[in-house]
Amino acid sequence: VTVEYLNYEVLDDYGWEVADDDLFEKAGRAELDYEDYGKFVVKNNETLLEAAENRGFAWPFACRGGACTNCAVAIVDGEMPPPVGHILPDEMIEKGIRLSCLAAPVTEHTQVVYNVKHMPGVEELLL
Ligand code: FES
Repeated sequence: VTVEYLNYEVLDDYGWEVADDDLFEKAGRAELDYEDYGKFVVKNNETLLEAAENRGFAWPFACRGGACTNCAVAIVDGEMPPPVGHILPDEMIEKGIRLSCLAAPVTEHTQVVYNVKHMPGVEELLL
């Protein structure tokens, strides 16, 4: 599974929204640092967070167990199973928010905004 990722802090800086149809096209054209935008492969036995770490990235996390939302990501395109026994309310799940410490995308090409812990609605859940 290949993940195309984008840092939420970049959206803030550029005035982009997670809901922008052309979000990843804009990101691709913006000559962002590899840390903020790019692609990597997630292996079968990895969570999304582990995959990012194993490819050399420092994505945010704290508990690694579905209890804090520090590791939250927004799935823009593709599927990632919503975790069981987690802290996220249903409306966040419906908006595509997932916890990267608990699961990984299941669709071949998935677009993910990471670092969404500061997004409205997620931030309020942070412990
Ligand atoms: Fe706490 Fe994922 S690191 S929910």
